[in-house]
Amino acid sequence: MCGIVGYIGKQKASPILINGLLRLEYRGYDSAGIATIEENKINIMKVKGRVKNLYNLDGIDNLKGTIGIAHTRWATHGIPSTQNAHPHSDNSKEFAVVHNGIIENYNDLKTFLTEKGYKFYSQTDTEIIPNLVHYYYQKEDKDDDLKVLRAVKNACADLKGSYAIELVTSHAPNKMIVVRKDSPLVIGKGDGENYISSDIPAILSFTKDFYLIDDNEFAVLTRDAVEFYNNKLEKINKKVESIQWSATSAEKDGYDDYMLKEIHEQPNAIRETIGSRLPEDGPCYFEDLNFTKEYLDSINKIYIVACGTAMHAGLVGKNILEKLCKIQTEVDIASEFRYRDPLINTQTLCIFISQSGETADTIAALKLAKQKGATTLAITNVIGSSITREADYSIYTHAGPEIAVASTKAYTSQVVLISILAIYFAELLESVDTKIIKNLKTEILKLPAKIEETIKVDKQIQEFSRKVFQEKDIFFLGRGIDCTVAQEGSLKLKEISYIHSEAYAAGELKHGPIALIEKGITVIGIITDPQLVEKSVSNIQEVITRGAKTLIITNQDLPQNHFDTIIKIPEVNYLLSPVISVVPLQLLSYYISKEKGLDVDKPRNLAKSVTVE
Ligand code: M6R
Repeated sequence: MCGIVGYIGKQKASPILINGLLRLEYRGYDSAGIATIEENKINIMKVKGRVKNLYNLDGIDNLKGTIGIAHTRWATHGIPSTQNAHPHSDNSKEFAVVHNGIIENYNDLKTFLTEKGYKFYSQTDTEIIPNLVHYYYQKEDKDDDLKVLRAVKNACADLKGSYAIELVTSHAPNKMIVVRKDSPLVIGKGDGENYISSDIPAILSFTKDFYLIDDNEFAVLTRDAVEFYNNKLEKINKKVESIQWSATSAEKDGYDDYMLKEIHEQPNAIRETIGSRLPEDGPCYFEDLNFTKEYLDSINKIYIVACGTAMHAGLVGKNILEKLCKIQTEVDIASEFRYRDPLINTQTLCIFISQSGETADTIAALKLAKQKGATTLAITNVIGSSITREADYSIYTHAGPEIAVASTKAYTSQVVLISILAIYFAELLESVDTKIIKNLKTEILKLPAKIEETIKVDKQIQEFSRKVFQEKDIFFLGRGIDCTVAQEGSLKLKEISYIHSEAYAAGELKHGPIALIEKGITVIGIITDPQLVEKSVSNIQEVITRGAKTLIITNQDLPQNHFDTIIKIPEVNYLLSPVISVVPLQLLSYYISKEKGLDVDKPRNLAKSVTVE
């Protein structure tokens, strides 16, 4: 969802900016643009559609400026068009900005500025920003180094909503100004050059050293320095954070698509997630956690709050936490949780799961939980992301950058991390037999090898996908923990193959959904919980009787002749089975999407990180 890149240095800015935008394509967008400064003049070039269309613009090669801002837009206010694409400038073309987020009071501000004589040429909320900065700049009577910054600060004071803003101006052609509130932005530190991005991977090939800018903070960048200010424009200090991800980890590395690469990366991602958290002799260890038995004894409820795939990881987490820790655990969708006055207090532990750490609803839900006095713990993949700056505790999946919109390795690493967290709690609480804990630890350590084994079903899945890629509806069924995987499989399929799909708890079938089952329909069953095998098989039998074609993902010995296709996966403790059983489902949605000739990594209407509500 909207991407920002910025560069200030000695090199020609435009190729660096376009390259950065290409690396942000995975976020989802519909138009793109750049602005550079040359001889005190701002040059703006924008296109509807793909970033690469920028290369076709007349004059793009002649942009010589060494300072520039760039953006990929995902339409919120106004249709996708060149006019609505960023950067936007003020009427007199003295200020140009790119903006991520939403200005909620833009209509009021537009009316105010219109009354002052400003004109608007786009339908965006963003266009008010450069004009508002211009308005305040005109009113400044003190002509010093901070004049532009004061104008930006005054404009921001009028904005309601979320924003990450990057600004260049002909009044200070050797500077760039950035500010953020509830929208991600990082600053990359180079040698005689500095970078800006909404996402680390876009500038990872240039630097691994980053400054993390917090809400309502401003940064002024020159070639050689970055100065930070709080919202009173007092100077503040920031330390440089080094990111361990390699630049190639954010590239396709020979795979056709990022999604396939990321499916194959799961064994290693999980090795990284486990890291040193499961020592051979001794309890689970989290460097950043210091929970005590007394605290855990005092909590009466755990809430897991997240969106999409991360929420599905939370559903698995609920099963494991309740089983091992005997603490009631609720899972909620962040966009619901934040508006329904949830019953939480100082005795509630709220866990927020987010790959990106930037999902607007999840962050808002976290802020609400904090207000209500709950302890908050974030599970994320991105060091320094917004969520980590809000939560009381943060733990990282260390899965490496996930670029494809469809989440794969983030899900499995989240499930593994929450499993380790549940064991950590159970060890402190002494809530479960040590033999069970020992067995689970051994099983977690074997997961990477078992995923490697599971990925070998690739050919079988590819073959199956050829049979079903033209279907209109596909159903997923499972019981218990298998139902949570059915939900994830169904989401993945919808997301990248555009096939309508539903997931149901298999036992719920008779209460309505079975009316949809007719001859030839495809039903996918997940069967891994040994205690529920017979019941699940009976449910599948019910759809077979009504003419459904079935694909079964299982680690159990099932009668071969009952089902059309059986995909056998390695055995594992059923609590951890989602980490394995989800893999064939990820591959299935991938191959169906490929059969349909769709853009796997950038599905329509979707964005990688949903930074607006
Ligand atoms: O970055 P987050 O984990 O907070 O993102 C949450 C969802 O937007 C995300 O999981 C989404 O559902 C994925 N595209 C699913 O593949």
